[in-house]
Amino acid sequence: MTVVTDVADLQALAKRRVPKMFYDYADTGSWTQSTYHENEAALQRQKLRQRVARNIDNRSVKTTMIGQDVAMPVALAPVGLTGMQHADGEILAAQAAEEFGVPFTLSTMSICSIEDVAENTKSPFWFQLYVMRDRGFSERLMQRAHTAGCSALVLTLDLQVLGQRHRDLKNGLSAPPKPKPLVLADLALKPRWCWNMLKTGRRQFGNIHGHVSGVDDMSSLAEWTNSQFDPSLDWSSVEWVKKHWDRKLILKGINDVEDAKIAADIGADAIVVSNHGGRQLDGALASYEVLGDIVDAVGDRIEVHFDGGIRSGQDIFKAVAMGAHSTYIGRAFIYGLGAMGKDGVTKVLEILHKELDVTMGLCGETDIANVGRHNLVL
Ligand code: GLV
Repeated sequence: MTVVTDVADLQALAKRRVPKMFYDYADTGSWTQSTYHENEAALQRQKLRQRVARNIDNRSVKTTMIGQDVAMPVALAPVGLTGMQHADGEILAAQAAEEFGVPFTLSTMSICSIEDVAENTKSPFWFQLYVMRDRGFSERLMQRAHTAGCSALVLTLDLQVLGQRHRDLKNGLSAPPKPKPLVLADLALKPRWCWNMLKTGRRQFGNIHGHVSGVDDMSSLAEWTNSQFDPSLDWSSVEWVKKHWDRKLILKGINDVEDAKIAADIGADAIVVSNHGGRQLDGALASYEVLGDIVDAVGDRIEVHFDGGIRSGQDIFKAVAMGAHSTYIGRAFIYGLGAMGKDGVTKVLEILHKELDVTMGLCGETDIANVGRHNLVL
């Protein structure tokens, strides 16, 4: 492998090292994948204003997210099955994020459990919640996250039912993978992944296994989600979550101005403008296309975070310039993890930080707090 210089290099490496079933799970959108691709394309279409001969010595991209100091306006997004991209993936990613100084969000659908991640990190991480039909289970998840010291709850609102992802169905996605001939042939080509996975005991959905009676067997993620996730989730469910969670609350999956207004009225600490990385409603607008309107509508009342399509520091810069308080990366860190474990996640964070810093400088800015729409060609 030549020198790794960008996220695309790590993606290529991850594709070689991670079993196809799990690489595909990350690198997919729903149905035609138009929204998945449009998320990236919309950011790429945005042009920047180049400014020159301004003193750009002493630059800083440090900021805060929901009051927490961060090294740059980036958090690691919740990603299901992270521990199948690399053994102990959630723990490794959380450690990399902690050392770099950005928040890590643990998915409900993680392989390492809440308790496991807490035991292996020093500072509080964030926990992402899916509301299940079994409200008692959701309540217990919140209690466990609270006990583990999680400082924020990220409530996902855009996955009451699962958007169909063709590749997952064709691959028979399951954790751990089922020993079918094609799966075994693929695993034979991924010895490093297999070796690490054999060494760890963490191969099931850690937050769920042993905690929900009768659902130990997760033969198919799609079937499981469709039977367990609560399709009746509505704004009263958000109120219900608020009653059970007394720390910071972030509402994720807002892609419409009307919903953003309701979310701001309900009194959360932040919203995440997101279409779930194009994995849910295919045909929805790219997150970047709606970001500006949402910031204009509610940005003075609530922190507006952004995710969808971020693969570079330039993308982070554009989202912040459009008015996002900060951003999340999902696939970008997952590629680093699949490629090189913890070092790969650190590498991604370093790459993004450098790209963000240089982009900011070449736009004539020295402090991320001063970046705004004046930096964009609109
Ligand atoms: C779950 O969050 C998924 O998108 O698979």
